[in-house]
Amino acid sequence: MRLLFLGDVVGRSGRNAVIALLPGLIDRHKLDFVVVNGENAAGGFGITEPLLQDLLDAGADCVTTGNHVWDQREALVFAERQERFLRPANYPQGTPGRGANVFTARNGARVLVVNVMGLLFMPALDDPYNAVAREMSSCPLGEACDAAIVDFHAEATSEKQVMGYFLDGKASLVIGTHTHVPTADHRILAGGTAYMSDVGMCGDYDSVIGMEKDEPLKRATTKIPGARLGSANGPGTLSGLAVETDDRTGLAVRIQPLRMGPGLAPAEIAFGD
Ligand SMILES: [Fe+2]
Ligand SMILES: [Fe+2]
Repeated sequence: MRLLFLGDVVGRSGRNAVIALLPGLIDRHKLDFVVVNGENAAGGFGITEPLLQDLLDAGADCVTTGNHVWDQREALVFAERQERFLRPANYPQGTPGRGANVFTARNGARVLVVNVMGLLFMPALDDPYNAVAREMSSCPLGEACDAAIVDFHAEATSEKQVMGYFLDGKASLVIGTHTHVPTADHRILAGGTAYMSDVGMCGDYDSVIGMEKDEPLKRATTKIPGARLGSANGPGTLSGLAVETDDRTGLAVRIQPLRMGPGLAPAEIAFGD
């Protein structure tokens, strides 16, 4: 089956790139399942329910998040009723919403998606390895689901690599989000799990990680905070990773990073029929 994961959608530029490009990608490449990280969709800070709906309408089957999940307080309410919306699984017990769910893909297959957050340079949550192991052991790949996708929202590349090896052979895809900068280390690990340290963001790359760059420059050079940070709203780039899995095992057989936007050569997913 064919999966696509799109990185953190930042502000209007990121949303517009997803809305403009995702429906065509799903059509042309017969994508079975799409995950989009939406934690920065509302001007860089969280996501509202109408913006979540926009991403779902564009073709996202599941929207994951991270440390910005509660920036828009309404998320604390809609997280309960929106079954396609995930927050990190290692928040304390009793946190609204869910950290994992199983969905039916366009081809009828069962897809487990787990969202989990790292510990290094991040808010102190519960142990991410315990959390992900708990979710995955209740829905083993090849038995209770046909594909398993883990969005590991973390800062440190070392921690992300550890999670990749921790889940090698147990997940179809372990993909990093949060840094908003795509890494060039996409690969299929020895056990058959597709891996990429960070998928990058969907947004305006003429920015500092999606935010308008004047204020970060001023803060860095003067050490005096001035204006509020706002998302950069120039032309957006789509950033993602496409994965083709073996229908029998759920493990990855082909992967391809995808970047579509201003200044980039035209890109398409090269998966054949
Ligand atoms: Fe983000
Ligand atoms: Fe984040």
